[in-house]
Amino acid sequence: MTKKIGMIPGTGKQSQGIALRLAQAGYKVMIGSRSSEKAKTIVEELNTKLSVSSFYGDENKEVVKQCDILFFVVPPEYICSTLEDLGSDIKTDAIIVDVIVPLTFEAGLAYCSEDMCLDQFDYPSVSEYIQATVPEGVSVVGGFKTISAAKLNRLNHPLDVDVFLTSNSQEAKNDIKGIISKIEGLRVLDAGPLAFSRTTEQMTAFVININKLNKLKHASFRVISAAPKKQK
Ligand SMILES: NC(=O)c1ccc[n+]([C@@H]2O[C@H](COP(=O)([O-])OP(=O)(O)OC[C@H]3O[C@@H](n4cnc5c(N)ncnc54)[C@H](OP(=O)(O)O)[C@@H]3O)[C@@H](O)[C@H]2O)c1
Repeated sequence: MTKKIGMIPGTGKQSQGIALRLAQAGYKVMIGSRSSEKAKTIVEELNTKLSVSSFYGDENKEVVKQCDILFFVVPPEYICSTLEDLGSDIKTDAIIVDVIVPLTFEAGLAYCSEDMCLDQFDYPSVSEYIQATVPEGVSVVGGFKTISAAKLNRLNHPLDVDVFLTSNSQEAKNDIKGIISKIEGLRVLDAGPLAFSRTTEQMTAFVININKLNKLKHASFRVISAAPKKQK
């Protein structure tokens, strides 16, 4: 059975970028929003942009009920309330791809915030907070945190970046790798368990500052290495 992919929400800059890249790779994507009208407007825009009929949409709640793979792309300050609203409707074997980066800005520089959901946020990373909060059986995979919306939405430019996946479930990580490795120019790297999500969140603050301080555009991560070891 083909797994259904949905975006919570699919209306923001980052989620539209990921949704467009997934559709270019041949997937159908369900666009969520707090408002079904807004979801439908964005669906029309995205279908028109790629001349496809790959996008469909509804309220976030409906997306959560129908989809097996859920990209969580809400602003960090709303992840706690979003999980309160939607948590109990998430399918018990769903995979959540957490794209959220809890940034704050001080004197023009980006930092990873320690207290995104104020008193509720006692976890080292957003991914670990989500994993601890969702129903048993649901797996969280951190991903796409280090790739900017600007880069994802430049559809006529190859991505040419690495995406770092973190999860405590190797099976969930492999499932997501299988899906997103079809996106052109995206190399998928295993970045270990969810404990390393904080690292990828910090890397996002780092690359934003690198862009700003060095007047660069679209700086991003590509790990360099020697050729892979041969299997014995
Ligand atoms: N922008 C980037 O380059 C980038 C890179 C890496 C990670 N991220 C992460 O991606 C997430 C979204 O960023 P973005 O730049 O795409 O933001 P955005 O363009 O501002 O979109 C965010 C979406 O969040 C929804 N929203 C607004 N208020 C909400 C509320 N009170 N409760 C629930 N949902 C609400 C809105 O959807 P509806 O009105 O349709 O519900 C809106 O379309 C953030 O967590 C960010 O850290 C962004």
